Amino acid sequence: YVVHEGCDHIFFVGFLGAGKSTLARNLSGLFHRPCVDTDRLVERALGKSIACVFSEDGEDAFRDEETRVLKGLEARKSLLVSCGGGIVERPENAGLMRQMGTVVFLDGDLSDSMRQIRSRERRPDLGSARQAERLYRHRYPLYREAADITIDIRNKTFEQVALESG
Ligand code: S3P
Repeated sequence: YVVHEGCDHIFFVGFLGAGKSTLARNLSGLFHRPCVDTDRLVERALGKSIACVFSEDGEDAFRDEETRVLKGLEARKSLLVSCGGGIVERPENAGLMRQMGTVVFLDGDLSDSMRQIRSRERRPDLGSARQAERLYRHRYPLYREAADITIDIRNKTFEQVALESG
């Protein structure tokens, strides 16, 4: 993968349910590199669940904290970072991630994401399928633009995806 000066984190971005956390966790075990999840860091910083942050403070407050959490990673070394699906909603986040390392976009099908989301039931409400599709279309070019590497994860095993992550 591309080597940047300073930090050398690897950020996994992609739509909800793309498997970012699972991949980061598995790679972490394989390569003995610590992994973090921006959603968990936001929850820890604000002392409540993502669902509560959304309902009590609103999405803007969540996005503010998400950016703060990203900036906090500057002080750390060689992390595997699983990012919230909306990390690309704030234009500055892409630049921050690129400065700190390599951004990997896990590019999958919306229908697979939706299946994952439904089977977990822990995501804040995404609205109707049509809303999800609109969000996906809006974000797709943002993920592509933010990414150093795009991995097509359709019909691939963890090993195949891991191999392509470098
Ligand atoms: C969000 C995705 C979630 C979480 C929050 C908002 C989004 O992360 O950050 O619920 O806007 O797509 P995951 O993609 O890790 O589920």
